[in-house]
Amino acid sequence: MKITVVGTGYVGLVTGTCFAETGNKVTCVDIDKTKVEKLSAGQITIFEPGLEKIFLRNIKEGRLHFTTAIESVIDESEILFLALPTPPGADGSADLKYILGVADQLGKIMKGYKVIVNKSTVPVGTADKVRAAIAKNYHGDFDVVSNPEFLREGVAVDDFMKPDRVVVGTRSETAKKLMSDLYAPYVRQGNPVIFMDERSSELTKYAANSFLATKISFMNEVAQLCERMGADVDMVRRGIGSDDRIGKRFLFPGIGYGGSCFPKDVQALIKSSDEVGYDFKILKAVEKVNAIQKLHLVEKIKSYYKGELKGKHFALWGLAFKPNTDDIREAPALSIIYALISLGATIKAYDPEAMANVQGQIGDKIVYAESQYHALENADALIIATEWSEFRTPDFERLDQTIKHKVIFDGRNLFEVEKMRERGYYYESIGRN
Ligand SMILES: NC(=O)c1ccc[n+]([C@@H]2O[C@H](COP(=O)([O-])OP(=O)(O)OC[C@H]3O[C@@H](n4cnc5c(N)ncnc54)[C@H](O)[C@@H]3O)[C@@H](O)[C@H]2O)c1
Repeated sequence: MKITVVGTGYVGLVTGTCFAETGNKVTCVDIDKTKVEKLSAGQITIFEPGLEKIFLRNIKEGRLHFTTAIESVIDESEILFLALPTPPGADGSADLKYILGVADQLGKIMKGYKVIVNKSTVPVGTADKVRAAIAKNYHGDFDVVSNPEFLREGVAVDDFMKPDRVVVGTRSETAKKLMSDLYAPYVRQGNPVIFMDERSSELTKYAANSFLATKISFMNEVAQLCERMGADVDMVRRGIGSDDRIGKRFLFPGIGYGGSCFPKDVQALIKSSDEVGYDFKILKAVEKVNAIQKLHLVEKIKSYYKGELKGKHFALWGLAFKPNTDDIREAPALSIIYALISLGATIKAYDPEAMANVQGQIGDKIVYAESQYHALENADALIIATEWSEFRTPDFERLDQTIKHKVIFDGRNLFEVEKMRERGYYYESIGRN
């Protein structure tokens, strides 16, 4: 099939590349000229494990192209995917200006039947708004489909190539057939393509992310209890996770959820609920708990130093909002950095992939280390904010020798409490005593 993907960020680039991988001819469109130039020259613009190899292969095979000019590909495209940003507006609701802007543009250049598929996370009713925006200028036949994306950064290629499920919201039989054919190679193991109406599909994405965020905040509150009651959250997690109804995944406490999706999607669903006169009480609590948890480690640090952080110097391992990505949007590490710097501390940080992005955002407010061990030089303490694999089993002898004081604040529970005490560390983690 001939496919256009509009918006070539984390979702668009993975989507376009993975559709090309099964033989489709794909053009990815973006308004960012520099990005398009780089991608056209075979330079990948995001870090995502496994992506570069298939990106290069599909460019070489002539199945994957990049352009800034949507009008140059519209006629040949059967399906157009929108993978555009939906950032929070001033009131917390999803800002649809990118989606509706492109819909308006499409209406002006479409000449025949197309299926426009929305992959961005959007409030219920957006498919109708996109349809109306196109129909202002184009009076022929077309369909607007909702197809929310569930990929996780860090394992996005696997998630796309072998999805647990594909959700498609459409009532058009033509669109249903096209989407069914397009996704067939990705669900050969029998995972479902679930067809539904557009509104249910749009809500499914928000419900999924909000449920996962709820699970995280719930466990963070259990961890808070553990700290006060002398229990161990790792034990409690294993104790409850072996119940199938609860499940083992997503039960890890930490320093709050971040990233480009959970915070904005929880906020947007609260706002959508308010708009229809429903007070989504659980979700409001989920947000509050997360705001507290993001600074929980800072509170522990403040209490250890009795509020005297001026002149203290910290090593920080991890900047990305989670491992295996360079994405720093809403990363808990940034909240920690801002809080500690405002109290007069200095920081030297290391992250395997995210340092350039952080430098782009906060410049020289912190120092960037060449390696996780260089970050430790002269450090009064080590703070761990992201659970990259290489932080899990460090060279402890080197750690012991390089750090100035044997103090660790671990927001990701990477090490065993007892072992760290035996090594002579003051070791604080989450929900363990
Ligand atoms: N990142 C994720 O893990 C993830 C997962 C599932 C769903 N989503 C959703 O997918 C959507 C996209 O997210 P993302 O993380 O890929 O965003 P992103 O910011 O990484 O990428 C968006 C891209 O769209 C481009 N763009 C903006 N306006 C444009 C226009 N008029 N024409 C062409 N391109 C334009 C931007 O330049 C950018 O490259 C959001 O709604 C998000 O909530 C994201």
